[in-house]
Amino acid sequence: MSLAGMLSRRATGMGTAPWYRATSLPISTSSTSSKSISSQVRPTTRSSVGARITETRATAARPIAMFSTQLMMTNSTTSNRGLHSSPAKFGKEKNVDATTTAAAGEYARTDDSIQVEYPAESQLPASEPLTGAGGAVGKNRPPTLPTFSLQGKVGVVTGGARGLGLVMGQGMVISGADLAIVDLNKEEASRQAQLIVETFRKENPDSKRVPKVTAHYADVSDAASVEACIAEIIASHGKIDNLVTSAGFTENFEAIAYPIDRMRKLWGVNVDGTYLFATSVARHLMERKSKGSMVFIGSMSGSIVNVPQPQAPYNAAKAAVRHLCASLSVEWAKAGIRVNCISPGYMLTALTQKILDDNPDLKQKWTSLIPQGHMGNPEDLMGPVTFLLSDASSYVTGADLRVDGGYTVT
Ligand SMILES: NC(=O)c1ccc[n+]([C@@H]2O[C@H](COP(=O)([O-])OP(=O)(O)OC[C@H]3O[C@@H](n4cnc5c(N)ncnc54)[C@H](O)[C@@H]3O)[C@@H](O)[C@H]2O)c1
Repeated sequence: MSLAGMLSRRATGMGTAPWYRATSLPISTSSTSSKSISSQVRPTTRSSVGARITETRATAARPIAMFSTQLMMTNSTTSNRGLHSSPAKFGKEKNVDATTTAAAGEYARTDDSIQVEYPAESQLPASEPLTGAGGAVGKNRPPTLPTFSLQGKVGVVTGGARGLGLVMGQGMVISGADLAIVDLNKEEASRQAQLIVETFRKENPDSKRVPKVTAHYADVSDAASVEACIAEIIASHGKIDNLVTSAGFTENFEAIAYPIDRMRKLWGVNVDGTYLFATSVARHLMERKSKGSMVFIGSMSGSIVNVPQPQAPYNAAKAAVRHLCASLSVEWAKAGIRVNCISPGYMLTALTQKILDDNPDLKQKWTSLIPQGHMGNPEDLMGPVTFLLSDASSYVTGADLRVDGGYTVT
């Protein structure tokens, strides 16, 4: 449905159908909760105003938290959310009629009806290693600065079984590193480790060196799991030089309906997971008295507010990742450990592809806001991550490199 179409549905009182529909899928990253938000949050209070709002939304079976209903009742004389012709604000809107609000601010607001729950593992296709990404070693290899090489380094990538983490890991291998792939899904990580080595062999039949690529289980949000994983990697590879923290996920729900346990889970993976892996690798580097380089995968959402999908907890988590990077880069500079952040914009992974297949209007909306006019490909991160891990960036630390097609500069 087009944006205009959606707004007209809202105006006629039918406008509660979300672009994204909430499903009852279990969240694959959550060990504690397999319930959907819709099944956890229900309207519990009915009064004349509350009932009116509930009925308006009931057609699309949208969740309404009890306290949100109460808040709406408190503001009922000035703001009947769900009955407006445009997204309404709590509080008074003086001197503004319905015709004006339909256009004003329309493209710079989140839309509370958009809900996206992180899909189940089984709903996402597995990725394949890239071929022809520049890995061929030999006489036809174009010259490049030797400082970009990761030869002799051991890199770790969390969330490396799929999506951006997998492609960045492959970029590290192509640039000469050995690699430890860490993921909740160890089976897929093992399959990908094997495929990366096979792809390397095919593209480099004459290479004397074959990279060592291993797979390891960890729940990055769990301290004991992280410690065990790091110990396993060191036992297998002998050391760790580089870290990329890509394990993370997002969900889209209006903040007033986002249960606190889900938010804690989201922060646990995105923020605690980054912190736990970074500090554990830093301890190892300090014990070895060795230099190292880390890249945290943040998001442009850590610097801007995405529209129209509401995702306040994710945005705040990614802002935390960015500032954690800055803070640790200062704290660890004296130890020779560099810490940088990459903040991708909208990247076309299996996850985003699935969402956009169901919601083609959303892709149009997103790309209309990107100066380069298209979403990024995962391989667009291969160069930036190699640069930041390698000696080519030896005087770069605490930086946030935005790889977003120019989104955040407009
Ligand atoms: N795809 C995008 O458009 C985009 C944009 C900006 C930032 N990002 C960030 O990039 C990172 C990777 O995103 P993606 O699109 O590749 O996601 P993805 O879902 O395709 O891959 C994430 C991987 O992390 C793993 N994972 C999840 N929770 C984990 C946990 N607790 N412990 C260990 N592994 C865990 C998953 O199993 C999966 O393999 C995330 O941090 C995401 O927030 C993505």
